[in-house]
Amino acid sequence: MKSIEKFLGSFDGETAVLVKSLLAADQAHLFEHWDHPDATDRERKAFLDQLREVNRGYPGGLVKYIENARRLLAEAKAGVNPFEGFVPEQPDVVDLSDFRDRYHRMEALGMEAFDRTAVVLVAGGLGERLGYDGIKLGIPVEVLEETSYLEHYARCLLAMEARMSRPKPVPFVIMTSKDTHDRTVKALKENDWYGLAPGQVHLLKQGLVPAIADNDAHLAMEGPFSLQLKPHGHGDVHMLLHTHGVAAKLQEEGIEYLTFIQDTNGQVFNVLPAAVGVSIDQNYDFNSVAVNRVPGEAVGGLARLVKGDRQMTLNVEYNQLDPLLKSTISPEGDVAGENGYSLFPGNINVLVVRNEPYVRILKETEGIIAEFVNPKYADAARNHFKKPTRLETLMQDLPKLFTGGQRVGVSVFARSWCFSPNKNRLEDAAEKHEAGGPPESAATAESDFYAAGRLRLEKAGTELRVAKEALIRGVPYTDGPRVVLRPDFAMTLAEVDEKITGGSLAGSATLIVEGRGVRLDEVHLADGAALVIHAHPGAEVTVRGVLKAAGGFVREDLTDVDYADPSVPAVLKMRGYRYRKQGVAELCFNQPGVYEVDLEEIDG
Ligand code: UTP
Repeated sequence: MKSIEKFLGSFDGETAVLVKSLLAADQAHLFEHWDHPDATDRERKAFLDQLREVNRGYPGGLVKYIENARRLLAEAKAGVNPFEGFVPEQPDVVDLSDFRDRYHRMEALGMEAFDRTAVVLVAGGLGERLGYDGIKLGIPVEVLEETSYLEHYARCLLAMEARMSRPKPVPFVIMTSKDTHDRTVKALKENDWYGLAPGQVHLLKQGLVPAIADNDAHLAMEGPFSLQLKPHGHGDVHMLLHTHGVAAKLQEEGIEYLTFIQDTNGQVFNVLPAAVGVSIDQNYDFNSVAVNRVPGEAVGGLARLVKGDRQMTLNVEYNQLDPLLKSTISPEGDVAGENGYSLFPGNINVLVVRNEPYVRILKETEGIIAEFVNPKYADAARNHFKKPTRLETLMQDLPKLFTGGQRVGVSVFARSWCFSPNKNRLEDAAEKHEAGGPPESAATAESDFYAAGRLRLEKAGTELRVAKEALIRGVPYTDGPRVVLRPDFAMTLAEVDEKITGGSLAGSATLIVEGRGVRLDEVHLADGAALVIHAHPGAEVTVRGVLKAAGGFVREDLTDVDYADPSVPAVLKMRGYRYRKQGVAELCFNQPGVYEVDLEEIDG
């Protein structure tokens, strides 16, 4: 310790204060090699740079982190049950899974608030389960036109803007990390920001936090001159929205709702308008988008927990929910209610948060939201860890702080209509399917993306002959009809209903529609027919008639030879198939004007 003290005078003010505060916080071991004869000035400088960076990245700095860690580690050691004394109840739920009238009212209400809504995308995750080299946002959600998740989300934001009475860009906050930041920026720049204004995108890069070696919160070292660092979790998004002043700035700009979404959920914008509508209608300060959950299913359950006059509605992990219910209101644990589902809907981490209370809570907490620690102990007395741990934070734990009379509720939507992420590599997805769970893979995400298009058509009265589900390398996939209604064509079910009349699609037909002014009037697509319409703004296009088969998009399953071939893209290998384009009717309207197309005339 003495050795570092000798150097303090040569440090700049910030560094000297930091080092002194670390010494006072019983972290002298960080500097035990400082004076070693082999130590170089470069190593010392790099270490101080790292300490300063980590210190700046955490509200209150490293000392605050150490203090928080000591408190949470003491609670973990004592086995404190955070739900002690709380009784679970069904939360306030608005169930829109049946698409009845209320659904349409909520969509209309949400759409009116597009100019007061921002989108926050958490995209800092490594995606270890998917095992993909690139960023998840760059993976195509569909491979007919190869739209990446990032492009799809950007198109949704542009479509929201186009539906405002006085259009203005929808703020788009993207949280990245060391692993994803550069490649996210590169994708945006290389693609001209996908049509977004660069100024509407706020990139917030999450940092790492120090690993902790023991119950006294001694920080763990990776080498003599380097802290071991670990991810803090997606709850960092709240901290960054606070520390960068973004949430407060958006509030000043009139943004009333922040909608939080994940990196690979191509379904999320199907429900965001209605979810925002529910928040407005119910005056919810915090609204979790959720799905009906079968009791015992391995998905966090949303519950209201009540203790005296305290209550909070939050996500309870499924393995904690059952014992909590058994020890309180239900000796049988988590059982089905009248509708066959658990009383506690499944959390999918899509959140609608009212910005006014949010900004206030961020200020009060400095953006540190419900941190927890989960050390793996090496001994029964809980004195030693198997490996260093760290503090963590999850974005869905935010309502733990919405306990001051704020309104917290849940909006339930049909499952694959609101949630179908791409999280698992193909082999693991097949195993999950075999075990009866959701595969959550590239193929199921694409299959559900088309199914969402079909659902829209069906609601508009189009007849569909849906193909049988196939298993591709053990993962279920429904090949068609493949329907992609781009967000600029329609953001709500009501818009689809207004623009599409009747018609029919056979099992292996494909329909892709882009363009606000397109209308389909009794369009019939035969098996093996593919119709792709791209219409620029101002092009008013009415299409009608029968399109016969000309090949269309033909699915080819990848063979073992393809898997051995390094030139076959990983984004196809994660699916198990590719599409060959063999005769597609493509209608492009690049100029404003009024167009009428009879498909019989372009046939072949
Ligand atoms: P996931 O549960 O999909 O985790 O995160 P992951 O880290 O991306 O993937 P695995 O577990 O390594 O396979 C849910 C969302 O939270 C984001 C992800 O990018 C995804 O949108 N996330 C996760 C962050 O932004 N930061 C994190 O530290 C972790």
